[in-house]
Parts: sequence; structure tokens; C-alpha cells
Amino acid sequence: MSGSPTLAEFVIAVDGPGGVGKTTVSRAVAEALGCRHLDTGAFYRAATVLAMLHHLDLSNEAAVMGVIAGTGIEYDDGRIFVEGIDMSKAIRTSAVTARVSRLSTLPGVRMLLVRRQREWLAGRGHRAVVEGRDIGTVVFPQAPLKVFLMARPEVRAFRRAGQQAIPVSAARQRLARRDHLDSTRNTSPLVAADDAIVIDTSDIDFRSVVEEILQLAAERGIRPSAPA
Ligand code: DC
Repeated sequence: MSGSPTLAEFVIAVDGPGGVGKTTVSRAVAEALGCRHLDTGAFYRAATVLAMLHHLDLSNEAAVMGVIAGTGIEYDDGRIFVEGIDMSKAIRTSAVTARVSRLSTLPGVRMLLVRRQREWLAGRGHRAVVEGRDIGTVVFPQAPLKVFLMARPEVRAFRRAGQQAIPVSAARQRLARRDHLDSTRNTSPLVAADDAIVIDTSDIDFRSVVEEILQLAAERGIRPSAPA
């Protein structure tokens, strides 16, 4: 994206750690605005699947970058395709979840995936709700609306335990490990952009969070597209 977005083109950046409701909220906001939703975590997960399929050691950044650079990764409507093959289920396995934070610390890998995410937006009329960890800070720093979702650790662990059918204590441990990796990496650590609006989702239902974001969007002139 170059220059300031016009009202016809916008990005709403939704960042935050795992278990705060980013996906549910950003999908609902995209639906209400009649635009696309991009889950950038799916790119990091797909790259992790690729590295695993090629039996690559994640410390070998050049090799991981090589396979990513030579592979088509497409995201469409909540599904991710690697060389045209739907990998949406494969990217959610516990083996991938256990490795993806490590892969996402590699600066060269991030550079390649950020480029793909920007290309994705350019191919979709520059209108989207984009969720991730570095959307407001690195991927689309010109986004006219940046939201950073957070929630208390026990609430996040409880939500994750429900989604993954694991004990709350295990969910809490895993989230703490991933938070540590995501927030202490040198390149694009998880941090709220200075101009992000921070919303604590611990004690409010997701509909209210969606309404709040739509209100913030309207204040910035971002409104639902007219039906085609
Ligand atoms: O949102 P998720 O759980 O699918 O993200 C998977 C991992 O990818 C997570 O450890 C953080 C990383 N990630 C990232 O570093 N930057 C993004 N924009 C999105 C995800």
C-alpha cells in the first residue's frame, strides 16, 4: 500500500496474543463491513507445515526461506492453500502449533511472509480486516484503524482449553510459552502500535467487541460496502 488509504480502501488491523478472540471478532467485523478477512497466522502455520514436510531444522533459516520462496501459498475465505492443496486442517495440528512460534522468530521468513500478506491485500481491492501480531506495527502501519485485543491470562487459557479440548493448566502453559517467544523476538515482537486502541475482551462478549470496532471504524469513515 502506498500513501494514505482512501475511504474505498482500508485495512483494519487486529493484533493481540492468542486466545483473545481475534479470529471470531475480525471475521464478524469483516462480514459486517462486506470485506475480506485475512488471518496472517495461517501464513506462518503454512510455512511451518512446509518446513516439516521438507524435514528442515528451523535453525536453518536459509533453507526454510528457500522452500517458502519457491512455494505458492494462497489464502482465501478462511482457507489456506499450499501449491493449490487445501492445508487448512494441517496447519492446526498440535505439531504445527508447537513449532510455529519458533519459525516466526526468523527475520528472513517474516520478510517473505509479510510481502505475501501485502500482495494478498493488493489483490483484493485494499479492503480487509487483517489479524495477526504485527499488522498495525509492521505489515500495514498506515492502517486507519488499529485494534489491539487483550484478555487476562486465565480467561485466554479457559477459551483455548475449550477450543483445543485440553486442560486449562496445559492451555495456560502453552500460551505463556508462545507469548514469551512472540513478545521477545528481535524482529516484529508482539506489541501494540502506539496508535492502537486497546480493548480488553475478558469480561465482554464478542458481539460488544465487534460493535465497538464498527463504531470506531464509522468514526474514521469506514462503512459497509453498498451491496453489489
Ligand atoms: O494466530 P496464530 O496462533 O495462528 O499464530 C501462529 C503463530 O504465528 C504465533 O506464534 C505468532 C505467529 N504470528 C506472527 O508472528 N505474526 C503474525 N502476523 C501472525 C502470527
